Order: sequence, then structure tokens, then C-alpha cells
Amino acid sequence: MYFLIVLLAYFLGNFSASYVIGKLTANIDIRSHGSGNAGTTNVMRTLGYKAAIMTLIIDCLKGVLAVYIARRYGSENLALVAGVVVVIGHNWPVLLGFKGGKGIATTIGVGLSIHTSIALICIFIGIILLIKFKYVSLSSVVAITFLPILMISQGWNYFIFGLILCLLAIYRHKENIQRLLHGTERKITEKYKVK
Ligand code: G3P
Repeated sequence: MYFLIVLLAYFLGNFSASYVIGKLTANIDIRSHGSGNAGTTNVMRTLGYKAAIMTLIIDCLKGVLAVYIARRYGSENLALVAGVVVVIGHNWPVLLGFKGGKGIATTIGVGLSIHTSIALICIFIGIILLIKFKYVSLSSVVAITFLPILMISQGWNYFIFGLILCLLAIYRHKENIQRLLHGTERKITEKYKVK
């Protein structure tokens, strides 16, 4: 049963909102446009803010759903595992040739479900940084760094959960971090035209 729930979390993660919305609204593979990332930011620059909001909500909801199912039919610790696995499923989806997104929207859904107030603090930090610097990658990576730090207060299992999500996000943003260091990272305001 526990294995099935973890498997379900992985395949929930495989449902890439950006990929589906790209196909349905513009008949494109979002991964061949803009930054090539299957995520909200790239949908925003490629297909506009309405499609981006839909992507954010759907990718967020699959995180919520994975945690809900694991908690309902398993345990709190299984919910922590499912929360990590749904993000892994989003980042490396077998159904899309292991080329997925960077996991931030899904991590938001997972974080809000696991510990709402800690997740809201991280989201608040991210929004402030985004308004100030206009880099989604920078605000995402810095905000998620606070997740394990704040999760320490809830116990070691929560800390490890937060640390894995943080390391996954940093790893997936390694190219963004390089671009930030070289001053070549795209700002949220940058547009990309679908030819
Ligand atoms: O979460 C993704 C965002 O931080 C960066 O996306 O498309 O600019 O690489 P992108």
C-alpha cells in the first residue's frame, strides 16, 4: 500500500501542467521554447500570464493531492515522502523522457500542505525578493533555503524533508545560478515570442 502511494505521487508529479497547456493552447512543446524549462516561469514568458497562472495552480495542486492521499491512507511520515517524490516526478518525469521542470510550484503545494505557516513565510520571502530583483530563480532558491531552517522546529523528519526539497531545487537551478553569477539570467519581465 505504501509503495503504491509513493508510486502514485511520482506519476502525479509526471503530469506536467506546462507541457499540457503548451500543447493544448499553442500546440508547442514548452521545453523547446524560452529557457526550455517545463514550468510556470517559462510558460509566462512564452504563452503569457493566464497560461502561467493555470500552470502554477495545477502544478501546485498535484503537490497538495500527493500529500493529501499519503496522509489520508498512510501516515504523516509517508506524506513527507510523497511530498518529495511528487517533486521528483515533476522534475524527472518518465512519461516525458525525464525532462521536466524545476519543482518550485509543486514544492509550494507540498509545503503548504505539510506546514502552511512555514510555507507561507518562505513564499513571502520569495515574493519580496521577486519584486525587488525580478529573478524567479533567485527568489525561488533563496526562499526554499529557509524551508529546512524553519522545519527544524518541527523535528528531524521535517528538517530532512525540507533539506531534500531545498537540495533538489538548488540542483535543478544550477544553470540559473551560473547565469545569475554571470549577470545573464532572464528576468521575469523578459518575453519570448513563439514563432
Ligand atoms: O522555477 C523555475 C524558475 O525558477 C526558473 O525558470 O524558466 O527561468 O529557468 P526558468
